[in-house]
Amino acid sequence: MRVAVFGVGYVGLVQAAVLAEMGHQVTCVDVDAAKIERLKEGIIPIFEPGLAPMVQTNHQAGRLHFTTDVAQGVSFAELLFIAVGTPPDEDGSADLQHVLAVAGAIGRLMQGGKVVVNKSTVPVGTAHRVHQHIGGILAERGVSLPLEVVSNPEFLKEGAAVADCLRPDRIIIGTDSTHAMALLEELYAPFNRNHDRIIQMDARSAELTKYAANAMLATKISFMNEMAGLAEKLGADIEAVRKGIGADPRIGYHFIYPGCGYGGSCFPKDVKALIHTASEIGCEAPLLRSVERVNDRQKHRLIERLHQHFGSDLAGRTFALWGLAFKPNTDDMREAPSRVLMEAIWAAGGKVQAFDPQAMNEAQHLYGLRDDLTLCGTQEAALKGADALLICTEWQQFRAPDFELIQRTLKQAVIFDGRNLYDPARLRQRGFTYYAIGRGD
Ligand code: UGA
Repeated sequence: MRVAVFGVGYVGLVQAAVLAEMGHQVTCVDVDAAKIERLKEGIIPIFEPGLAPMVQTNHQAGRLHFTTDVAQGVSFAELLFIAVGTPPDEDGSADLQHVLAVAGAIGRLMQGGKVVVNKSTVPVGTAHRVHQHIGGILAERGVSLPLEVVSNPEFLKEGAAVADCLRPDRIIIGTDSTHAMALLEELYAPFNRNHDRIIQMDARSAELTKYAANAMLATKISFMNEMAGLAEKLGADIEAVRKGIGADPRIGYHFIYPGCGYGGSCFPKDVKALIHTASEIGCEAPLLRSVERVNDRQKHRLIERLHQHFGSDLAGRTFALWGLAFKPNTDDMREAPSRVLMEAIWAAGGKVQAFDPQAMNEAQHLYGLRDDLTLCGTQEAALKGADALLICTEWQQFRAPDFELIQRTLKQAVIFDGRNLYDPARLRQRGFTYYAIGRGD
């Protein structure tokens, strides 16, 4: 089948690549000419395992095309995917200007019937709004053409995006149109083998499903972080509690890891947007507000502990920081807990020597040159002359470090671990002062 994808961000590029991988013909359209040129040369704007070779192979095989020409994209296919960004507005609502800009272009340029598919995470009612917007432009043009607008949210995780897209656990298709449904069933047939993953519903329910899924996952994390706070004060170990409750299949082991707060481009933004949607319709959403509040507080947990240990003035102190990305296997630092921690250390006069396996360029890009941040080439180099080690991301290579070297290199054998990577008893036995999350005061 032929498909056009508007917006080659995370969602659009991965979706386009896996569709091409299955043999579909895909044209990607983006307004960013430099990005499109780089993609043609096989240079991928993001770090995502498995994505670069898949894009390169399918581009070379002539199944994956890149262009800035919107008209070419619109005429290329009947199925038009919108996968542009929906950044949060100042009030937390999702900003739909990019979605509506693509919709407007489709309305102006379409010559035959189209099925427009919303992949971006968009507020409930957006499929309807996009339909009205395109319909309005067609009316101005004085033409009447068949048009369907479908909600088909994406559930991929950064760092596992290609695998998630190749093997989705569900394919939500929000439409009442049998024609649109038939096209999407055909498109997704290669991803829907062995058992049926397609769940059809109306567009509004599909849109809310996306927010509800992220809000539920964020709720699990904030719940565990709140329990971790209780465990600390009660002298219990949250890791034992986690295993104890995870064994109940109604609760499950997934997404109950306490830590230094959730970050990334999705949970913080989507929880905010859902709170905003709720307030617009006169609902208070107290649970969602608490989820957000608990998370904001959790991002300050490590700095609180740092102050408890070193006092409020951190002038003259240097801290080794392992992990800048909001989670492993990505270079993404959007809403990352590491940023809250670093900025609080700087505000208190301290310095940071940071290392991340992927996010060093991103950190450079975000913070530039400053004398209170040293970006180190290795995790060991970050330790040199530092007063303590801080951990914000659970990269595999941090899980079994050379503890003797850490002890020898740090000025004091102190670790503040925001991801509960180590066994507290063993570290204490080795002579470390070890602060983790929910594992003793
Ligand atoms: C999330 C969802 O997991 C995807 O299903 C969804 O498609 C995506 O948002 C989206 O809406 O686009 P992502 O933000 O890539 O994916 O990352 P996650 O793996 O969900 O992690 C989010 C944050 O939660 C990270 O900061 C992670 O460290 C934190 N987390 C996760 C915890 O603190 N504890 C956990 O148990 C799990």
